[in-house]
This record gives sequence, C-alpha cells and structure tokens, in this order.
Amino acid sequence: MSSANEATPSRGTLPTHVAIIMDGNGRWAQTRGLRREEGHRHGVENVKRILEAARDIDLRYLTLYAFSVENWKRPRTEVDALMRLLDSFLKAQRDDLIEKQVRLRVVGRLDGLPGRVVKRIEETVAATRDFSRWTLSLALNYGSRTEILDAIRNYAKAVQTGEEDPASLDWSALQRYLYTGEMPDPDLVIRTSGEHRVSNFLLLQSAYAEYFFSEKYWPDFDKDAFHAAIDAYRNRQRRFGLTSAQLQSSP
Ligand code: IPE
Ligand code: IPE
Ligand code: MG
Repeated sequence: MSSANEATPSRGTLPTHVAIIMDGNGRWAQTRGLRREEGHRHGVENVKRILEAARDIDLRYLTLYAFSVENWKRPRTEVDALMRLLDSFLKAQRDDLIEKQVRLRVVGRLDGLPGRVVKRIEETVAATRDFSRWTLSLALNYGSRTEILDAIRNYAKAVQTGEEDPASLDWSALQRYLYTGEMPDPDLVIRTSGEHRVSNFLLLQSAYAEYFFSEKYWPDFDKDAFHAAIDAYRNRQRRFGLTSAQLQSSP
C-alpha cells in the first residue's frame, strides 16, 4: 500500500474495500437515442477502466453491484442482454484476473443465474481462489434481504446439527453466514447516476460505510471520477460513534 499512499496527496487513509452501485446505463443510452442494451455494453467497458483505477491505488477489495434480485423483473430482452454481457465479460476477464492475481468472488445467489454463466463463474472462482491480495467481487442476483434470509436459514441448519449454539451468537458469528463471509466491510460505497438510494445493496455490511454519490451515469464514471470519490473519502472523518476529540487523542 505504501507506494500508492505516498503518491497520492490527500490526507486520510485509503479505503480497503470500495463497493459500487453501477447505475445509469439505461439513461446514458436514452440520452443518446440508443437502446438500453448499448448502455449496458458501455457500462461493461467502464468496468474495465475502473478495475485499472482500483489497481492504481492498490485497492484490496472492489465489489461491483451488477445485477440485483429485483432486476429479474425487467423486460426479458434486457435481462437476456445483461446475461450475455456478463458471460462475455467473465470469459474475457478470466486470463487477466489470473495474470494479475486477482481473486474473483460472487456475492449473491448463484442458482437462478443461467447455467453457462454459473459454470463460467465457478471456473474462474476456482482458478483464482488462492490469490489473497486483491479481490474482485461481483454482486450478482444479489439482494440484502435475500442474503439475510439465506444466512438465517444456513445458521438454523447449523444449530440443528449442533455446530452452532444460539446462546453464543454474536455479530462476528452471524456475519460468516452472509455471502460476503470473511470479507471486510466496505469503507466506501459509491452510487452513480444521481440516485440517492441503496437499492437493497450490502445493507448490513455498510452499517458504517461512507457513501459517495456521483451525478455521472456509470458509463461516464471514469478514472478521474473514481479518484475524486477516493479523495472525498480520504477527507472524511469516520467516528464510529465516538467524538472527534476522542479520535484526535487516540494514537
Ligand atoms: C445499472 O443501470 C445497471 C443495472 C441495473 C443492471 P440501469 O440499467 O439501472 O440504468 P438506469 O438506472 O435505468 O438509467
Ligand atoms: C441497482 O440499480 C442495481 C444495480 C446497479 C445492479 P437499479 O437501477 O436496479 O436500482 P433502482 O431500481 O433504481 O432502485
Ligand atoms: Mg438504474
């Protein structure tokens, strides 16, 4: 981290985990008289730019909200186009992720995604599972409420088999059942496209995240915009319930 830290002029520490709600592909296309699918295609191109920007700052965890459980309700043609784009993105990224030693993870319900996409994900997840420095997580078929239901269901099963004891349940025990497992919580959540809402994304994990909202549509949210969001984060004081004075007196 140190060389990236030294190269950046801002004050505070860099985030460890940035999560992005990549919103506005449809409106980006509509303002240009294009079909929504074209917006998604440009959105995927931008993902590649932001992966580079994340590498520029040696970001350890990047989580991208790519498809929500609610997005299935969109028109069939749009959902199909998104799945095709996802498939080709995964295919194109596989070798690059391996070469750059980035671990791929998925947060969300894998079942429900098309079989070929699941196969592609499983293959790349397996090929990159031993990399530990950088993690790219794709939130796919993701919703926080589904996640907590799945977590409770799996926890209850573990209680039945005697692996877990409800009397000793605490947050660190329960969070292991979330899709994010042992991943650190996001420090910064970015949402593009001028919408100021969370849309069922990492609700529990973002309990103490900083939020950054950009007016730019996702295909226009370039490297400079990403670095500006990181700078804004670094100029904030995270207090976690304490007072500023307490934080200033701590070592
Ligand atoms: C985000 O862009 C991508 C997905 C939700 C898959 P949108 O498709 O939501 O774009 P807008 O919000 O309609 O402009
Ligand atoms: C959130 O965007 C989901 C993703 C970016 C994948 P949406 O466009 O689906 O969210 P709403 O419907 O505007 O809240
Ligand atoms: Mg949207």
